Amino acid sequence: MPYRRKTCGIFRCFSIGKSTCAANSKGVMAVDRKTIIKTDKLSKSFSVSGKQYHIIKNLDLEIYEGDFTVIMGSSGAGKSTLLYALSGMDKPSLGSIEYAGKEITGMNDDQLAVFRRKHCGFVFQQVHLVDSMSIMDNAISTGMLIGQKQKDLKKKATELFERVGISEEMTDKFPAQVSGGEAQRAAMVRAVINDPDVVFADEPTGALNSAGVEAVLNVLTDINNEGQSVVMVTHDIKSARRANRILYLEDGGIKGECNPGKYVSGDKKRHEMIRGFLEEMGW
Ligand SMILES: Nc1ncnc2c1ncn2[C@@H]1O[C@H](COP(=O)(O)OP(=O)(O)OP(=O)(O)O)[C@@H](O)[C@H]1O
Ligand SMILES: [Mg+2]
Repeated sequence: MPYRRKTCGIFRCFSIGKSTCAANSKGVMAVDRKTIIKTDKLSKSFSVSGKQYHIIKNLDLEIYEGDFTVIMGSSGAGKSTLLYALSGMDKPSLGSIEYAGKEITGMNDDQLAVFRRKHCGFVFQQVHLVDSMSIMDNAISTGMLIGQKQKDLKKKATELFERVGISEEMTDKFPAQVSGGEAQRAAMVRAVINDPDVVFADEPTGALNSAGVEAVLNVLTDINNEGQSVVMVTHDIKSARRANRILYLEDGGIKGECNPGKYVSGDKKRHEMIRGFLEEMGW
């Protein structure tokens, strides 16, 4: 029963079939699904020249297993900051984060690194490939770290590279020898090579033309259809359409959310619903 709404309460809702959208000022809509990530009063602040900037404020949020969750919001709203906290890449200032019922907030750096290696894949806003390694070696590096066979990894990576439009001979190139979009797609292959439980993607299509965007989104949609969870930050409504849940971040919290249901290509009603939601959010 994926989208049963427990209460509308303070939310302003509109819906198409089982799909819903809600605007609220405090929390997010409760639904009956298995939670994979849960934050409790999550706060993240930065100190610059003695001044504190509170970016994420007392956020209670649940990310559900098997969802394709998209986080949107204006530039500087804290989307990357939130993604880094949710994925254990950065520690919160206050509050806690549970992953599959286990608190990760108290873990030390080594424990967090093991946790991330086991469960998470990442595509960062800045691509972060290792310059001294070919894009193939970059892509398989996370698999090597967990002891998978190089031969198997290369076969899988080659297939994934093909799916995002990078031919096998290109994969010997180093990051400095490829375009921004090619580097971004290599980072995408690296993110999904281990079949992580959750793929965190921060504007993974930012440097791509429309064919590249489609290819990357198709890989994310495919792995999501295979059961992996995706949490993606984007400014792009075309990318957001792939989500079954869209969260809108503003002023350190979730201003509203839209649950348009699983992605169906060419579903105009769904697209209108997402557009209406984003307009309502002030996007
Ligand atoms: N390490 C840091 N030190 C100080 N301030 C930071 C740091 N990281 C982020 N910020 C600030 O936090 C705010 C949110 O940044 P963040 O990168 O999360 O925004 P964003 O929503 O991802 O924006 P964009 O859409 O432009 O990528 C910004 O004002 C930014 O300057
Ligand atoms: Mg960002």
